[in-house]
Amino acid sequence: MPLAKACRIKGLDFDTVQQEIKAVKNEPLERNRNYAAWSLSFLADYIVNIHHAYLNEEMGPIAAYAHKIVDVHGKNHPELIKIAAIFDKIISDMAGHLCEEEEILFPVIKRLETDKKNGSKPMDDEVIKASLEKLYREHEEIGDAVHEIRGLANDYAIPEDACNTFTLTYRKLKAFEEDLHKHVHLENNILFVGCSNLSSTIGR
Ligand SMILES: [Fe+2]
Ligand SMILES: [Fe+2]
Repeated sequence: MPLAKACRIKGLDFDTVQQEIKAVKNEPLERNRNYAAWSLSFLADYIVNIHHAYLNEEMGPIAAYAHKIVDVHGKNHPELIKIAAIFDKIISDMAGHLCEEEEILFPVIKRLETDKKNGSKPMDDEVIKASLEKLYREHEEIGDAVHEIRGLANDYAIPEDACNTFTLTYRKLKAFEEDLHKHVHLENNILFVGCSNLSSTIGR
């Protein structure tokens, strides 16, 4: 049934309904997601498919851009040299971090969820705790490095002498920080908390 006809039957104002539909369509999808209601296994897959995939796609190009603007603008903007070096360090730290999550902790979380009915644990409590502590610590270190970049980049304000690559690099670094905040929030506050709760309740 056409919307105009449906509105007439229900006694609703057609223009108002149209505006409301448009507003809902423009709302970011993010607002409707209730990550805490997802199973931990589903959330772990989501993190890998969205946030780890983003890192794997974006880290190399961002580093290449950062080094390119060092070559062109490094003399007038020595802060770029530090930014490129810090970003290189983030990439090397991130490799081990993602590996620990994807190869060790996330599979353990999935096993904890599937095995909880029979009360068996895929890994000792202490080992899970140690892995979580290591990952929490690395989140802090990587977060500090990203904030250091933001400080050096003057909150990503674009200087007057910036070329297109300079502007693009700062935009990408800003997007990197935003994605990292969402990613770390999902792990620290939902996935990892869920993992320790599950691990401590099984076998009691
Ligand atoms: Fe992660
Ligand atoms: Fe992480």
